[in-house]
Amino acid sequence: MSYEDAGVTHSVFADDLAGREAAFQAKIDAGIAIEPQDWMAEGYRKMLIRQISQHAHSEIIGQLPEGGWITRAPSLERKAILLAKVQDEAGHGLYLYGAAETLGVSREQLIAELHDGKSKYSSIFNYPVLTWADVGAIGWLVDGAAIINQTSLCRCSYGPYARAMVRICKEESFHQRQGYDVMWRLCQGTEKQKAMAQEALDRWWWPCLMMFGPADADSVHSMQSMAWKIKIHSNDALRQRMVDQTVPQAEYLGLRVPDPDLRWNPARDHYDFGAIDWHEFHRVIAGEGPCNHERLATRVRAAEEGAWFREALAAYAEKQSGAECRNEVKR
Ligand code: 3HC
Repeated sequence: MSYEDAGVTHSVFADDLAGREAAFQAKIDAGIAIEPQDWMAEGYRKMLIRQISQHAHSEIIGQLPEGGWITRAPSLERKAILLAKVQDEAGHGLYLYGAAETLGVSREQLIAELHDGKSKYSSIFNYPVLTWADVGAIGWLVDGAAIINQTSLCRCSYGPYARAMVRICKEESFHQRQGYDVMWRLCQGTEKQKAMAQEALDRWWWPCLMMFGPADADSVHSMQSMAWKIKIHSNDALRQRMVDQTVPQAEYLGLRVPDPDLRWNPARDHYDFGAIDWHEFHRVIAGEGPCNHERLATRVRAAEEGAWFREALAAYAEKQSGAECRNEVKR
C-alpha cells in the first residue's frame, strides 16, 4: 500500500523522511559507524558507491603500471617484492568491491561502469613507467600519498569502508617502504643511477600531488562528503601533509623536488609550494592522459578473456551447492 492509499499526505511522508535524515546525521555527528543494515540517506549511499568503486578501480588498474616491470626487475629479490606488492593491490580491489557490494550494487555493474567510462579511477595510473626508478618512485610517492589518504579514511563513517582501510593501510606501509628502498639504493649507486632516480622524481612529483583531488575551492563533493564524515580531511589538507612528509625524505636521498617555489614557511609550519597544473589534471581525468586508453583497453581485454574462467567457477559453485543441498535432504 502506498503512502497515498493509506491516506498519508505527502507532508507527513516528508516529515518522516526529514526526521530520519536528522537522526541519521545526528548518528554520524556522534561518531557512530553506519553499517549496511542501518537506514541511510540515499545521497550518502550513492556518494559511497561512487567513491568506493573508484577506489577499487584504482587498486585494480594500479596493478598495470608496475605489473609490466615484474619480469624486468633487476634481481630475484626485487622481482619477489614487486610481485607481492602487485598481488596486494588485487586484494585491496577485492576488499573495496566487497565493501561497495554491501551498499546494494553488484561488482559486475561497477566494473561495467568503469569499462564504459562512467566511473573513474585515480589519475596517477595514467602515466607511463619508463625506468626501474619509476617503480621506486611509485612505491615511495604514489603509495605514500595513498597511505595519507587512506589513514584518514580509516575514520570514515561507513563501517565496511573504514575497516577495509585498516587492513589496506598495513600493506601500503610495506609498499611505500620498498619503493623508498629502491630509490635509496639508486641514490647510493652510480651517478647514472642517481640521475635516473632524480628523473623519476621529476616526472612523478606533480601527478602525485594531483592524486588528492582538485583544490578545496573546486571540489564538488568535499563539503557534503565531510558533513557525512566520508572524507575526514580536505583535499588540500592531505596534499599539504604529503608535501610536508615527503620533502625531508627527498632531501635525505639527496634528490631535488622539482618545484622552484618550494620553501619552508616557519610562520605556517608547513612548506609553501608552487601552483599545480590543473589543466593537466582535468585533461587526464577526462581520459586524455598518456596511458588512459591503454590502461582501460587492457582491463576490458582481461575481463573479456577471463569471462570463461569466471563462468566455469560460477557453474562449479552452483553444482557444488546443489550437491550439498541434495545431501542435506538425504540426512
Ligand atoms: N583521479 C581521478 N579522479 C579524481 C581525482 C583523481 N586523482 N581526484 C578527484 N577526482 C574526481 C572525483 O572522483 C570527482 O569526480 P566524480 O564526481 O566523477 O566522481 C571529481 O574529480 C571532483 O573531485 P572531488 O574532490 O569533489 O571528489 P571526492 O570528494 O571524491 O575526492 C578523492 C576525490 C580525494 C580521490 C576521494 O574520492 C578519495 O579519497 N577517494 C578514495 C581514495 C582513492 O580513490 N585513492 C585513489 C588511489 S588508490 C591507490 O593509490 C592505491 C595504491 O595502493 C596504489
